[in-house]
Amino acid sequence: MDKTRQAEWALDNVRKLSGQSTSRAGRLLIDRLTAEDYVASGVEKDVFDYGDGSVVSFFTHANLEPAMMAPMLKTFYYSAKLGHLLMPDSIPDAHLAVARPPAIVFDKVEGERDGITYEERHAFRRRLESVSIAHACDLADGNLIRRPDGSLAYVDIVNAHMLIRNPELDTYIQTLPAETAREARRLQGRLLKHSQDWD
Ligand SMILES: Nc1ncnc2c1ncn2[C@@H]1O[C@H](COP(=O)(O)OP(=O)(O)O)[C@@H](O)[C@H]1O
Ligand SMILES: [Mg+2]
Repeated sequence: MDKTRQAEWALDNVRKLSGQSTSRAGRLLIDRLTAEDYVASGVEKDVFDYGDGSVVSFFTHANLEPAMMAPMLKTFYYSAKLGHLLMPDSIPDAHLAVARPPAIVFDKVEGERDGITYEERHAFRRRLESVSIAHACDLADGNLIRRPDGSLAYVDIVNAHMLIRNPELDTYIQTLPAETAREARRLQGRLLKHSQDWD
């Protein structure tokens, strides 16, 4: 499928998704979308440029119960925030989460997602291991982007369970500057609360 058809298809997915019930915030996200804003799709999400260096990811194919949507989206939001705190250069920050339709606004990573080598992926995994979050990230194809300067960023969901049931991470957090550690624990607390709601 060429990029224009893919964009139309993704836009259609998002509009269908919002056909059922949409909050005002969700409406604001959707109404501004055009096919030109289309960035890419994965198995679960269709991603569009949101302007000002950010993207909006719509969870078009995540088959989830409507009642679980809000806690699930909050969990994804806080897990991205914690991932970003622990690895600011490599994990984009999250700025907004909406439940109807399920969508999150992230910092946009500019670069190439194709042709990441085994060596690059391996070196990136080692960096994630150094902050004890490697198990929380799915380094599959399409989830890494190589920026023009050669550095990699991880662009899929950071697994909340691996951030709150991970003694190794707790130990690592203790080594951080007091303020960063405090913020990390606060985000872990939010994650614990919201993930229990849909576990
Ligand atoms: N923050 C981002 N910046 C730039 N592109 C992104 C970003 N997040 C996702 N993408 C693009 O959208 C694609 C699908 O996003 P992803 O979060 O991996 O969804 P899925 O869960 O469907 O795999 C990615 O392969 C990537 O090309
Ligand atoms: Mg992906």
